[in-house]
Amino acid sequence: MKAKILADRNKAIGPISERIYGSFIEHLGRAVYGGIYEPGHETADDMGFRQDVMKMIRELKVPIVRYPGGNFVSGYNWEDGTGPKEKRPKRMELAWMSVETNEVGIDEFQEWAKRAGTDVMMAVNLGTRGPEEARNLVEYCNSTTDTYYANLRRKNGFEEPFNIKVWCLGNEMDGPWQIGHKTAYEYARTACETAKVMKWVDPSIELVACGSSNVTMPTWGEWERTVLRECYNHVDYLSLHNYYGNRDNDTPAYLGQSLDMDRFITVTAGICDEIREELKSDKTLNLSFDEWNVWFHSNEQDKEIPKWQIAPPLLEDAYNLEDALVVGCLLITLLRHCDRVKMACLAQLVNVIAPIMTENGGKAWAQTIFYPFLDASVNGRGTALHTEVSCESYAAGDKDAIPYVESILVDNEDGTLTLFAVNRSLEDSCELELQLEGYEGFRPVQHRVLTGKDLKAVNTASDPEAVKPCELPVKEGAITLPAASWNMIRFSR
Ligand code: AHR
Repeated sequence: MKAKILADRNKAIGPISERIYGSFIEHLGRAVYGGIYEPGHETADDMGFRQDVMKMIRELKVPIVRYPGGNFVSGYNWEDGTGPKEKRPKRMELAWMSVETNEVGIDEFQEWAKRAGTDVMMAVNLGTRGPEEARNLVEYCNSTTDTYYANLRRKNGFEEPFNIKVWCLGNEMDGPWQIGHKTAYEYARTACETAKVMKWVDPSIELVACGSSNVTMPTWGEWERTVLRECYNHVDYLSLHNYYGNRDNDTPAYLGQSLDMDRFITVTAGICDEIREELKSDKTLNLSFDEWNVWFHSNEQDKEIPKWQIAPPLLEDAYNLEDALVVGCLLITLLRHCDRVKMACLAQLVNVIAPIMTENGGKAWAQTIFYPFLDASVNGRGTALHTEVSCESYAAGDKDAIPYVESILVDNEDGTLTLFAVNRSLEDSCELELQLEGYEGFRPVQHRVLTGKDLKAVNTASDPEAVKPCELPVKEGAITLPAASWNMIRFSR
């Protein structure tokens, strides 16, 4: 099979915000306890943070991590996770029917984030709480005033503010599963009033309003319109969430699911613009795709996990090669929308639907999806270019035309170029004809590929490198994408 890729230096989509390589740590399963935090682990530092995990997170260059949820945040009292650990309450945690010990809270997480070289994206509870607790939390984290919550932070040992810039106004408030689920109008009013007081405490913060929990929500569209009519001038981003999965074991259709993400982003951006016109506003609202990933493998096993345990092994999807190809297509889709998607969070980071897995008291290893995320996060910085791909397409699932090749070219800040490409064909390799206008003299210098014979192969503690990338020899004018592969091709002069 052949494909032609055309990109032009003068036809840019826009600068890529590094925050699209964000991720997420929720108090859920073993993400915190046994994931980032395990005092007693042989690699634990003075605060109990696992250094083996932290090293892998640093390698991923994750610029921002959403915390503490997710569904968890909608029943959370942030005060429980501050101050002396021995005084912190153990709680029945209703989002995941687990026991929360509160050994880790914002006091520890902000320190973990510093050590991991990342920023915190903090979510506030708009399920069981509201503007009062949210503005107190902003004061606790960011204020330098001589007032109660800023002084409480000082008393807890933190003279300097945490300076958390990005804040989510609740989580998935459109979902009936959410603690404190709201109608669009109920949420819109609460979010608007919460946004106002949070920004009065710290005008420099950026706020994310909840959009739809996924594209199949019956309220999708109307939810966004109602929320934006109330909140447009008070918030900076609208969120999107969506998870993908090979539920019918139909790999060709599964590989095409990134087209659904593409449509979700396009339509949601259109709704934001429609409300901008309605309100006669000059402001363009950006998007925060702050939960995205593959999630389906663990759905059945999770039903067997007993309730009210501390850090039960929930949502521990073991990702295979085809999942990594889907994640690659989703990353390319986010890059293609980098003019509107200014933040995104791979959900999540450790153990819970995550690129990094650990054993309690044991090893940490990279899942298959670690690799496309690593390539994109490390080399997908700079400016994304309109990348025209001419290739054959196929019909599968509910789609008539899924292109075999998904690709985008990035003009990197250091004067190099990076092409990301997925070949969705399960049988045929694909020979590329590249036309890179304005980049005369650029030659391929590296071709890293993730592929394999077994699409269902996974990495495990005993075989952590069953699926890993390899380098292909590079020859000018002869770039071939193997069948069923994720590719990163680097060019320089
Ligand atoms: O990431 C897992 C869960 O998925 C989050 O808690 C929730 O926001 C979403 O439904």
